[in-house]
Amino acid sequence: MIMEAMDKLQRECLSCRDCPLSQGRHNVVFGVGDPESELMFIGEGPGEQEDLKGVPFVGRAGQLLDRYFYAVGIDRNDVYIANMLKCRPPKNRDPLPEEEDMCIDYLREQVRLIKPKIIVCLGRISAMRLIKSDYRITKEHGQWVKRGQFMMTAVYHPALLLRDPRKKEEMLEDMKSVKEKLDMLREIAGGNGSEE
Ligand code: URA
Repeated sequence: MIMEAMDKLQRECLSCRDCPLSQGRHNVVFGVGDPESELMFIGEGPGEQEDLKGVPFVGRAGQLLDRYFYAVGIDRNDVYIANMLKCRPPKNRDPLPEEEDMCIDYLREQVRLIKPKIIVCLGRISAMRLIKSDYRITKEHGQWVKRGQFMMTAVYHPALLLRDPRKKEEMLEDMKSVKEKLDMLREIAGGNGSEE
């Protein structure tokens, strides 16, 4: 069911021409991973490599993200990774608010279908849109908030870590916290199941 609905959504998204970013794209970068995952990562928008391959977080920043997944024991294939924008903004500039507005319904639908327990915003831009508009990534990264049925946090964007490696230690702590939260929520879910 989820698979079919997700495939349908992906097909719609692949033919989207709603905003000018569609004119410059090589590929729509819809999202990747397990659509039944409890854990979802959301970045801002595709970069050059992502645009060329049609897959999120496969460039240098993505490779760094993979190293954090490995370090804390998260399998990339077990999570779902998407961006707020599905098409690359020119020269990797920040998404414009109107571009986010045009694209965000695809992400909303992805979240509605996946129903993750945990949403991790990758970077300031995604946190400002999805957690709160005045989100301060330097101060608030790694903090947990509950939004409806989701536990949400934001971590540094891996591209920032490439520019400022001094933040890598904090990123590792935040990613450990994500894994701990996931294990905890799984334990609670498992516990509930076995008591019934
Ligand atoms: N940065 C993002 O926010 N998303 C990607 O997919 C790649 C780089």
